[in-house]
Amino acid sequence: MSKLWGGRFEGKTDAVVEHLGESVSFDARLAPWDIAASIAHADMLGACGVIAKADARKIVQGLKAIAKRVACNDIQWDAQLEDVHTNIESLLVETIGAAGKRLHTGRSRNDQIATDVRLWLRDQIDTILGQLGRLQLALLDAADPHTETVMPGFTHLQQAQPVVLAHHLHAYVEMFHRDRSRFAQLRKRANVMPLGSAALAGTPYPIDRHRIAKALGFDAISANSMDAVSDRDHLIEFCADAALVMMHLSRFCEELIIWSSSAYSFVEIGDAFTTGSSIMPQKKNPDAAELVRGKTGRVYGDLHALLTLLKGLPLTYNRDLQEDKEPVFDASDTVQLCLEVFIRMIPAIHFRTERLAQACTQGFMEATDLADYLVTRGVPFREAHGIVGQAVLHCARQGKSLPELSIEEFRRFSPHFDPHVYTFLTPQAIVKRRDNPGGTAPRRVRAALMAARKRLQKD
Ligand code: ARG
Repeated sequence: MSKLWGGRFEGKTDAVVEHLGESVSFDARLAPWDIAASIAHADMLGACGVIAKADARKIVQGLKAIAKRVACNDIQWDAQLEDVHTNIESLLVETIGAAGKRLHTGRSRNDQIATDVRLWLRDQIDTILGQLGRLQLALLDAADPHTETVMPGFTHLQQAQPVVLAHHLHAYVEMFHRDRSRFAQLRKRANVMPLGSAALAGTPYPIDRHRIAKALGFDAISANSMDAVSDRDHLIEFCADAALVMMHLSRFCEELIIWSSSAYSFVEIGDAFTTGSSIMPQKKNPDAAELVRGKTGRVYGDLHALLTLLKGLPLTYNRDLQEDKEPVFDASDTVQLCLEVFIRMIPAIHFRTERLAQACTQGFMEATDLADYLVTRGVPFREAHGIVGQAVLHCARQGKSLPELSIEEFRRFSPHFDPHVYTFLTPQAIVKRRDNPGGTAPRRVRAALMAARKRLQKD
């Protein structure tokens, strides 16, 4: 098959350069969007009288036939033709004959690829927005029964203060909400059409850019042709947003991995999301969580690859830009796969509530509240902090927990202790007192879960 740009060439391209330059092996996946954009372009060319209406009609029919073949995987992509655009144009000429040669009037592969990728990106964002919503729902469903389930909250991975399990899970709902809003904003910013910018300077043909934009569902047309063919900000933003999702997922992974270790035994992850060891028969490894944690690194890599690719690139289109595809495809595939895994894994996590409650009796998590208790009895907080510190030291030496101290022992540290202190120190009483918006008191957590559900229904 001869090259579409072969006219001014006498010599042949070196075989290695052909291998270097072909992109159809990875950009063929853009075919549905490439065809949609070409259909809109051809229709506009016909409507504006740039090409004959009959030719435009033939082109549209031919492209639709090719789209069907793409959908049935019935196309042999030809690497010698370089990319998805040239492959489809050649197929079109093969399918409908001479009229097909008029499709590329008033456009360039530079504005074409910029348009295709934006269309593709929009669909990826829509899928990811849906997935993030389903993940939030799965988390809310998991949280609902646990607004009274106490567990240790950690700082520095040290037992800090008791919280309710639903509060911990709701923290992730908030993270994924921010992720959703980032992607939703990106969708708006990226939904601008480059077509009509042609190679870099615009086109002399009397085209109607708004007509194509409308047909393709773009909110606006680009304001500068040079910017439009060289801008890849939206791909970098996409990778950055994807990297943040992965970062959030990987934090969750890390917790699940720690929590499912026998030292913690806070959770048991269902068989469908764990694997055994080929040598140690007792093992049940949290592989799914580990793999998602591991895949986070490659999405960070994709982001870095794109930032580096664009750094110092002069205006306008440079062939370097062909290298934007694989990282952004990888980031999109990876984040979608990992979100799907999480959506399914969340309902398969069994929380061992009795273990969580038992863990609350360790680590002196009542200490802050014991100081607060003294404050209610008139002791200044800084002084109370010192008194409780001494009580904790005493307990640590004796191998006791704070509530195991007798009232006489308590009084050795301060005369302000009375028997009421024991009910004050239960984990249930402790969480119940965190009764401000955003706190872990069960009623506040129930309200937060409800608000999150409402917000989800709204968008
Ligand atoms: N395959 C190319 C890319 O992905 C399409 C644009 C080619 N433009 C060019 N002037 N060679 O960037």
